[in-house]
Amino acid sequence: MQKVFINKLKDFVGQEVTLQGWLFNKRSSGKIRFVILRDGTGYVQCVFFKGNVSEEIFEMADKIGQESSIIVTGKVKEDARQVGGVEIDATGLIVIQDAKDYPITPKEHGPEFLLDNRHLWLRSKKQVAIMRIRHRIIKAIRDFFDERDFVLMDPPILTPNAVEGTSTLFETPYFDLGNAYLTQSGQLYAEAGAMAHGKVYTFGPTFRAEKSKTKRHLTEFWMCEPEVAFADLNDDMNLAESMLEYIVQTVLKERAEELKILERDTSKLEKVVRPFPRISYDEAVEILHKNGVNFEWGNDFGAPDETVIVQQFDRPVMVHRYPAEVKAFYMKRDPENPKVALAVDVLAPEGYGEIIGGSQREDSLDELLSRIKEHNLPQEVFEWYLDLRRYGTVPHAGFGIGLERTVSWICGLDHLREAIPFPRMIYRNTP
Ligand code: 4AD
Ligand code: MG
Repeated sequence: MQKVFINKLKDFVGQEVTLQGWLFNKRSSGKIRFVILRDGTGYVQCVFFKGNVSEEIFEMADKIGQESSIIVTGKVKEDARQVGGVEIDATGLIVIQDAKDYPITPKEHGPEFLLDNRHLWLRSKKQVAIMRIRHRIIKAIRDFFDERDFVLMDPPILTPNAVEGTSTLFETPYFDLGNAYLTQSGQLYAEAGAMAHGKVYTFGPTFRAEKSKTKRHLTEFWMCEPEVAFADLNDDMNLAESMLEYIVQTVLKERAEELKILERDTSKLEKVVRPFPRISYDEAVEILHKNGVNFEWGNDFGAPDETVIVQQFDRPVMVHRYPAEVKAFYMKRDPENPKVALAVDVLAPEGYGEIIGGSQREDSLDELLSRIKEHNLPQEVFEWYLDLRRYGTVPHAGFGIGLERTVSWICGLDHLREAIPFPRMIYRNTP
């Protein structure tokens, strides 16, 4: 018998096939037993008629528990009322394992219970949809850069220094060399890569010992960081804008079914097309003041501030030129106003907050040396990075897009913990 995946059943109408998967749900009515089978590629209803199958199989179809692993044989029938447009007229059933008392039932469960059972929760319909969208987003990001001749360059995870401030470093003993830190960002290495290849991107796990418990922070998250030689802040914003449009429009096209399962209001995503509004930090502060928010120039925006800012627009907002004080040491100051850095944050609509952080980099050796001193960073460990300014320095820029924040926004989730297979947060490092 032909072994087939559910998403290919349409090509086998009228034929006898074998499906392998798990029992998602079941119900009975008199002489009929319905088994909903899932195999990762989709869901299909298998119908067991009394008389068409042995008495034993007919009984079994009713008895086996949720998430039992099974093999179903049957004829593929067209049925417009079913998801996927087909159902299976079952003729055979083999039970690999009859699972009893599966902990996640169709009733409501609390988030802690579900997180404790994350290894099983991943099988639920919405979680499957989220992971399929996550995968498509990753592919869209890679396709976007690959098609533009960027070279993928993997930075190290064990590093000798901080990138994004010293307060969120994970430390680990490192043989005779003292301590190493889990990387907060691959950016500094991406800069070395940009000087070798012109255009590069990194894509990997990054770590922040975030001491706050919020919906938007994980301690381990994935980030993609493009870095471009001979680029300024405007080029950086153009790149971020094109990439976001590409990601969102691709997911709308390629993952429509999953977005429906998540009940996502896609009309909001359809609006994510260029150009995005670009406002300076000063203008953003003005918006806050106009809306009655008590905000002092020089501070970083909090989540509620970001929400007020994006509410004025219907697509992602690029806020540029932040006070240099609140930003990282490597950012170039604006020659027209050294109080501000040539930085940009992209804020997602609907209150999802900052999904991208980027900047033009300080390309002058002397300036960078003073920044390292101002930030009290140990110069020795940055010597290699300073070399990039000693040997053929050029204006360059890049950004980092947080994968889970992007997934969370596109899927319309209310917490980052569902946007990654196994979330790591301040109070959770299991399963
Ligand atoms: O703004 P961040 O800290 O920027 C950097 O790391 C730069 N080195 C990027 C660059 O220019 N190459 O982080 C970038 C993005 C944020 O906008 C956010 O989406 C995500 O990474 N992010 C987090 N996501 C989940 N949990 C956390 N704790 C995060 N911290 C940052
Ligand atoms: Mg940031």
